[in-house]
Amino acid sequence: MDMQKRPRRIRGNETVRRMVRETRVDKASLIYPMFVMEGLQGKEEISAMPGQYRYGMDSMNRKIETLLNKGVSSIMLFGIPQHKDACGSSAYDSQGIIQQAVAEIKSHFPEMYVITDVCMCEYTSHGHCGMLKGDYVDNDTTLELLAKTALSHVEAGADMVAPSDMMDGRIAGIRNVLDAHGYVETPIMSYAVKYASSFYGPFREAAGSAPSFGDRKSYQMDFHNVKEGLKEAQLDVEEGADIIMVKPALSYLDVIHRVSEEVNLPVAAYSVSGEYSMVKAAGKLGYIDEEKIICEMAVSTYRAGADIYLTYFAEELAGFMDEGRIG
Ligand code: PBG
Repeated sequence: MDMQKRPRRIRGNETVRRMVRETRVDKASLIYPMFVMEGLQGKEEISAMPGQYRYGMDSMNRKIETLLNKGVSSIMLFGIPQHKDACGSSAYDSQGIIQQAVAEIKSHFPEMYVITDVCMCEYTSHGHCGMLKGDYVDNDTTLELLAKTALSHVEAGADMVAPSDMMDGRIAGIRNVLDAHGYVETPIMSYAVKYASSFYGPFREAAGSAPSFGDRKSYQMDFHNVKEGLKEAQLDVEEGADIIMVKPALSYLDVIHRVSEEVNLPVAAYSVSGEYSMVKAAGKLGYIDEEKIICEMAVSTYRAGADIYLTYFAEELAGFMDEGRIG
């Protein structure tokens, strides 16, 4: 057989396979999304996300300790307030759940890098991501509240803020307010390319943030589009974003790829609640090998171009990396 090129030569054993890997992963790029709930004692399992919890302050601290021990040193915090109203006032209350949680974490674990999700939907009585004018989410009045919220998080000690509301102009709005208060060094990770996705279903149960009427299609993106995502990313770069996020991850690898080619900033991909819950459900039924699927999903996201990976499987992945199951 006259065949000089045999791609299988470099697949012969694990050592050579590891040597020639094109995609390498690192625990430092993992971010764990975490829910903290006002007034909760202990923790409460999220029924649509088995293995994920809403945390009260004490159990939150224990979880942070576990994460740090496993080598996961960044979290994305979501708050579930006791009080909701039309203008989401608990979002920017200096004694709100996020503000308290950040201060608590930073006092015990200053080495944990705390990123806060900046949005109104967990705090508004109607569950939309901004202020309503009639039935429409009003862009420009929302900007002020988002900037106030971001500032209150940073004042409480947040290392980075991550607006997820999809209002136009919010990166510039937040940047201006942070800078005016001297927080010129605090980075913004923009949920720049965020699609109106049914993959967020379990999250909305977790955070009690489902819209009470309508949907989020007038602000989150249509999943038929990718050029529109590049436009969103470019606008946020111009407005001063430091990291661009694409969300969800698994069904959007093409978008991650395009964004990472076009943008000269680190790209984050968020493997969202629905992705987590699908894997857990199929794993429980024995239809898939849960651990191998978690690894494959993670590597494919990095291979597509993500530099940073937000995932509810962060702790598991850190363990798999330690064991050399992916690397
Ligand atoms: C808040 C927000 C959502 C998610 C992150 N930030 C929900 C939404 O937009 O409805 C989803 C995260 C997930 O599904 O894991 N706006």
